[in-house]
This record gives sequence, C-alpha cells and structure tokens, in this order.
Amino acid sequence: MADRGNRQILLVAKPAGRLGAEHFRLEHGAISKPKDGEVLLRVRYISMDAANRAWMHGATYRSAVEAGAVMAGGAVAEVVESRADGFAPGDLVFADTGWQDYAVLPARQLVKLPRIAPLTHLISVYGIAGLTAYFGLLHVGRPKAGETLVVSAAAGSVGSIAGQIGKIKGCHVVGIAGGREKCDWLTRELGFDAAVDYKAGNVFKALKAAAPKGIDVYFDNVGGDILEACLAQMNIRGRIACCGAISQYDGAPREHGPRGVPGLIVVKRLTMQGFIVTDYFKEREPALADLQSWVAAGKLKVREDVIEGLENAPRALIGLLAGENRGKRMVKVA
Ligand SMILES: NC(=O)c1ccc[n+]([C@@H]2O[C@H](COP(=O)([O-])OP(=O)(O)OC[C@H]3O[C@@H](n4cnc5c(N)ncnc54)[C@H](OP(=O)(O)O)[C@@H]3O)[C@@H](O)[C@H]2O)c1
Repeated sequence: MADRGNRQILLVAKPAGRLGAEHFRLEHGAISKPKDGEVLLRVRYISMDAANRAWMHGATYRSAVEAGAVMAGGAVAEVVESRADGFAPGDLVFADTGWQDYAVLPARQLVKLPRIAPLTHLISVYGIAGLTAYFGLLHVGRPKAGETLVVSAAAGSVGSIAGQIGKIKGCHVVGIAGGREKCDWLTRELGFDAAVDYKAGNVFKALKAAAPKGIDVYFDNVGGDILEACLAQMNIRGRIACCGAISQYDGAPREHGPRGVPGLIVVKRLTMQGFIVTDYFKEREPALADLQSWVAAGKLKVREDVIEGLENAPRALIGLLAGENRGKRMVKVA
C-alpha cells in the first residue's frame, strides 16, 4: 500500500461562479499513521453529492470546505490499521474521509457498516441518499395513499428513491427532471405516473397537466423557479419537504426567493419544513429494513452511476451539477 502513497484532491480555490476543473489539484502525500483512538482507512467509494458544492459557500450543518484543504466528501472505506477499540482491519465504515486514497480519523467519526453485496448500495439506497429520501418523504412530507406527490431532481439519487417510495405508498407521483430521456426513464422504468421536463420550458403549465388535482406533497430538491411553480399549485394543507436547493448551489446567488412566500403558505395553510437526514438517524434501523424489503421485492429499483478513479472526482462532481447523472453518482477509488 505504501508504494504509491496517498493521492489527495485539494480544493485550490473557492469558485466565485461555476465550479470547474481549475478549482482542484491532485497531489501526492504520505500515508499518515493513526494515533491512539484513531483508525487508518482505505477509501473504496466516494459519494458525489450536490451538497459538496454547497459546502464551498460557507458553514452549514457542517463546517465550510476551505481552499487549500483536501476536498471533503463522504465515503465507504475499509479499516487498514486500528488503534481504537471496536474497529479491526477489514471493517467497513462510512466517514467523511475527503477525496483521497487514505484517511486517518478518530473512531468516534466512523459509522460501522455491514459487508453487503454490492458494496455500492451502502452509498446509494442504504446510504445517505436512500435515508434522505425515506425520512424526508415519510416523516416530513407525510404522504397518504391517493395524494399527489411531486419530486424535483427526480432522476437524481434522492429524487429517484423518493418518487418510488411515493408509489409504494399509493401516491400519484410526478417527477421533474431535465430532458426527455430522463423523464421517459422515470415513467417507463421507475413507475412514476408522469414526468415534467423543466428544460423544455413552462414548468407551471406542464405541471398542471401532470398533476391535475393539485399537489399535496412537494419533495423539493431544487428551490428557485421550480419551487415557485409548485407553491402556486399546492393544495390546502399541503406539505413541502425542503430537502435541498440545487438550483442555488453552483454559480452566483439569486437576487430574490420564490414569489408566494409567505402569502401562499398562509392562504393554503401549507407546512414547509426543512430537514437534515441525520436528524432521524436514531430511526435508521427500521428505515433500512423497509428499504431492504422494497429492494428485495423489486418495488424499489436502484440506479448507480459509478465513475472509475479518484482522479476523476472533480469532473464527476462538475458533471453531477450539470445533470449528467441518473441515480446515485459515486467514484470508485479502490
Ligand atoms: N437534507 C438532507 O439531509 C440531504 C441529504 C442529502 C442530499 N440532500 C439534497 O438532495 C438533493 C439531491 O442531491 P444529490 O446529491 O442526491 O444529487 P442528485 O439528485 O443525484 O443530482 C443532482 C441533480 O440535480 C439536477 N439539477 C442540477 N441543477 C439543477 C437546477 N438548476 N434545477 C433543477 N435540477 C437541477 C440534475 O438533474 P437534471 O438533469 O434533472 O437537471 C442533477 O442530476 C440536493 O438538493 C441535496 O442538497 C439533502
């Protein structure tokens, strides 16, 4: 393992506009030794998340990613050497290892994982993406059978799972995604009832046709104009689960928020609630059991988009922000 050292991808500068390859640099460092209470990890798969870009704007639910540091990111990794109780070589963990081959971390920052096949499901459906879809939809959106659910970034990792859970719960599910091909995939492969191509223009009108009874639950991954179009079509006592705001992550910030806030929230008695998946981690076991049973029964299809090679992580993230991915994008490191 020591022959090639530790390749690390640094964020060399915070982007003022769109993220580009010029904001990253690959360096070769030494593999650190763990101290008492620490563990040396070999990174296997790094999760590519829209939030990686949001972290560059400043501190959120985690500290900001700073220029000059190893790019932050969650990963499935394998214990190589342990100086902490409870961890042994060969154990699998989820941790914020950052974009590198090896990481030394305190044991308290690691979440132990079962060894399953395929391993990639630990990043997708049984990882943050699946749990975010599960808790965001069922605990925040609280859909009932027969209601209309709309999901944005619906062909992405969280959205594709949230929409399918909506179908499992008996909802009329409408996905919003960029491009005809993604929309066809949602309806033909994943069982969505309808899909709206937001890149084709007039989202409001297309949504009205796809959700003729109005929207009861909106699972919002994007914010911005799509949130505005959904807000105007929410039914009385509708729920908006604010999962993320991809439309705001890459580039200059918008000058105004969606129209209709707070007026439409008042008149329609809407509940609009943000959440972070870790809020619900105490309930992770039953959630994982549900997700596993749906996958096993063929009710929940898992789409993964694996990019080979640590060196390709920058272009993998840039491409995700541009909508290249279907389902969960990740980078295979080892
Ligand atoms: N609250 C939480 O705890 C939590 C946890 C994890 C993730 N999230 C959120 O979940 C959402 C999904 O993130 P992800 O990492 O899973 O990424 P993802 O959905 O797999 O990929 C991002 C997708 O966003 C779409 N997109 C990009 N720019 C857009 C725009 N301006 N308007 C509409 N869609 C756009 C692209 O698809 P198109 O081709 O359709 O444009 C792209 O494929 C994000 O908002 C993220 O912040 C929240």
